Amino acid sequence: MEREDDVEDLSPRPGDLDPVETCSVDELRALQTERLRWSARHAYDHVPHYRAAWDAAGVHPDDVRELGDLARLPFTAKADLRDNYPFGMFAVPREEVSRVHASSGTTGKPTVVGYTRRDLDTWADVVARSIRAAGGRRGHVLHNAYGYGLFTGGLGAHYGAERLGCTVVPVSGGMTERQVQLITDFRPDLIMVTPSYMLSIIDEMERQGVDPRSTSLQVGIFGAEPWTNDMRREMEQRLDMHAVDIYGLSEVIGPGVASECVETKDGLTVWEDHFYPEVIDPVTGEVLPDGEEGELVLTSLTKEAMPIIRYRTRDLTRLLPGTARTMRRIEKITGRTDDMIILRGVNLFPTQIEELILDSTLTAALSPHFQCVLDRDGNLDAMTVLVERREAASPEVAAEAGRELRRLVKASIGVTVAVDVVAPDGVERSVGKMRRIVDRRPPR
Ligand code: DLL
Repeated sequence: MEREDDVEDLSPRPGDLDPVETCSVDELRALQTERLRWSARHAYDHVPHYRAAWDAAGVHPDDVRELGDLARLPFTAKADLRDNYPFGMFAVPREEVSRVHASSGTTGKPTVVGYTRRDLDTWADVVARSIRAAGGRRGHVLHNAYGYGLFTGGLGAHYGAERLGCTVVPVSGGMTERQVQLITDFRPDLIMVTPSYMLSIIDEMERQGVDPRSTSLQVGIFGAEPWTNDMRREMEQRLDMHAVDIYGLSEVIGPGVASECVETKDGLTVWEDHFYPEVIDPVTGEVLPDGEEGELVLTSLTKEAMPIIRYRTRDLTRLLPGTARTMRRIEKITGRTDDMIILRGVNLFPTQIEELILDSTLTAALSPHFQCVLDRDGNLDAMTVLVERREAASPEVAAEAGRELRRLVKASIGVTVAVDVVAPDGVERSVGKMRRIVDRRPPR
């Protein structure tokens, strides 16, 4: 993507990268094969769940000789982690687990994950690699507004940034006024935060009379929730900096499974020397060729405390060939299978609504703070897009933009929705992951 001239060129310089990032594809595949054999054996030997599941499927770690053999192994799902709550998926004695994280999920027990000392090292390495891919350098000041605690975002970003040699400001999420003050006073080069919370910080800057384009920030590293290329454009324009994507999930390690390179911004390079990606048909489970869209499945190749084999992420994407690095890329994630709204037979994702709101004709009047609210009208499901008007737009202009949004949804997605344009600050804010879908439908 073209950037204005005053934005610094942050392409890597010779010696910046780990040798494995630019090794040959053959070397990479050989390393992965060797590591996959180890990981499958480690999981089977030390985690009763894997032994039982593979025995039931009639497969054994000795059957895994090359990367293609992975497809013979059963999938692992979130339910398997829940069923083995809290520490049943660990492959090492509890005393060797240096840290645990957990994600709350929507129902019941959290999913618990564990790390040995070496796993924490690996994690710091892949996050350091991700920050460097985004244009971060030793000596940069990094404002970390991902939440600290059981969520992997805060501590994951923190140790990766320290590993790279950054000066870390461990702000965590929340207290938005203070976020702005610290950005103004500490003059960070980099910020790590969810894209939806970045928007709230930008709004707070404007409220305080700070020009968001005037800050010291050069790069934002955004992830933990889906966001579109239109949102990238919005952030880059409003902040006059690079906006790059970072992906990860706690079950696999946390942030740093895949990350975008600032010099190409063409999808996220999967750090394939540690996490092996497959894309499957979410209905049949069949492995799809690279380039086809489906559900991302990930296998850890080096993790000790909690090896994870063929984990169904529910995230929808495509595998693409490497560009800036040897490793393959995933396309920006459009959504999760569980975020897909089926409205009167039409499938839709909140990211499609985001793209339309940020469409050039509407974006002057409507802000990207929005939610999809689901209700039931008689027997039929109904959806209302709740969207804020921009501060600068009059209520009349915004109402017209709302009507236009309704027309665009009908024309491009093929379903009728209601659009409710509310005043600035009228949509619930989050300091971490934004809740895009509010489901008020009574159970059938
Ligand atoms: O969200 C880890 C993370 C923290 C990633 C900070 C990036 C930055 P979980 O809480 O386990 O872990 O949630 C994982 O979040 O399966 C995706 O559905 C979603 N997700 C994470 N990153 C992205 C992204 C962290 N860049 C779940 N784009 C994943 C789209 C993302 N969705």
